[in-house]
Amino acid sequence: MASRFKLARRILDVQPSATLAVDAKAKALQAQGKDIIGYGVGEPDFDTPEHIVAAGTKALSSGDTKYGAKRGPELKKAICEKLKKENGLEYKPEQIVVSNGAKQSLYNLIQVLVDEGDEVIIPAPFWVSYLEQVRLAGGKPVILETDESTAFKITPEQLEKAITPKTRLFMHNSPSNPTGSVYTPQEIKAIGAVLEKTGVLALSDEIYEHLIYGDIQPLSLAAVSPQLHKEQVITINGCSKSFSMTGWRIGWAAGPEAIMKAVAKFQSHATSDPAAFSQAGAAEAYGRSDVSSAAIIEMRSQFNERRKVMHARLNTLKGFKCIEPLGAFYCFPNVEGVFGRTFNGVTVKTPMDLCNVALEQAGVAMVPGEAFGSQKHVRLSYATSMELINKGIDRLEKLLNS
Ligand SMILES: Cc1ncc(COP(=O)(O)O)c(C=O)c1O
Repeated sequence: MASRFKLARRILDVQPSATLAVDAKAKALQAQGKDIIGYGVGEPDFDTPEHIVAAGTKALSSGDTKYGAKRGPELKKAICEKLKKENGLEYKPEQIVVSNGAKQSLYNLIQVLVDEGDEVIIPAPFWVSYLEQVRLAGGKPVILETDESTAFKITPEQLEKAITPKTRLFMHNSPSNPTGSVYTPQEIKAIGAVLEKTGVLALSDEIYEHLIYGDIQPLSLAAVSPQLHKEQVITINGCSKSFSMTGWRIGWAAGPEAIMKAVAKFQSHATSDPAAFSQAGAAEAYGRSDVSSAAIIEMRSQFNERRKVMHARLNTLKGFKCIEPLGAFYCFPNVEGVFGRTFNGVTVKTPMDLCNVALEQAGVAMVPGEAFGSQKHVRLSYATSMELINKGIDRLEKLLNS
């Protein structure tokens, strides 16, 4: 009998990641011995602070190698204290669910809140997983376009206009991956007012909250009003970016109890709790580090120096225009000025074409804007050394001046 193999419709509807195509090509070139400078990565290049590594190691060597549930109370308590101190938000431990990375926190929430055909509003450019996670839940992404004229931020009017009776959720991300934009407290209050007026729920992805440069003070969307805090906003955060802990896989969500109960139930059948030693490291991170701790100040200050250099140099490249990113660790230049030009017989018409040419002809890996819902931009991460920032941009300069 022939095999009954078929892939489920659910996965067939999901688009392959445009980032993977370039990443796979970069890796293949590296494997052939080519010298590639990578601006693709979405993770800090710093070591996890020593005291956090020590806490994780201690957990392992003291035999904490079983299921992670036992570690839950300590970490949830530390997260509640962080939320109170840094974000002015009171939560009980029952309102927190810790997951294997913020990516899983987002996935859980979307699965629990979005039914087939429900609309989810996503400002573009967006982090690509928002779109695919909504599709995986059978939801309908409603994209709000933004550009440089508003520093890639939506207006409250834009949000209100997009809300229909089918709107279930709004995705908020500040500081933003990929644009580096940061909403001011005033802008967040205006968005919050629309949510309050319409009753729409929001996921507020604040994973880059410790990486803001300049004067803007972060404001959690949930902190805008008691109603948003109690009923409408679920805050998503994690250790990956703040403490350079991408491989530990700790993310979390805080929100209304009824929603978080459903999330806990969902996760209990998917993955259960994250590894016990990772939770021990995260509890140490939240217990001993905060926005003003030495390790974070040092990391932020190095990112800031690199940000200034990359941003300034990108604006000297022929055909590139880049607004100043104020958070996260990405520059998101507009590269329309390069479209129509031909490099060694290859004509560039899209961000993807430019990324292929930069990789093949200059040995520089960037992520095409298509991955984030933009047909005009590329993303470069400055989570790499100053030396490689300068070296890679020298190569782009040579290519673009050729
Ligand atoms: C905007 C945004 N949200 C969430 C995540 C997920 O982070 P993690 O799953 O490592 O906690 C990322 C990672 O790149 C991100 O850029």
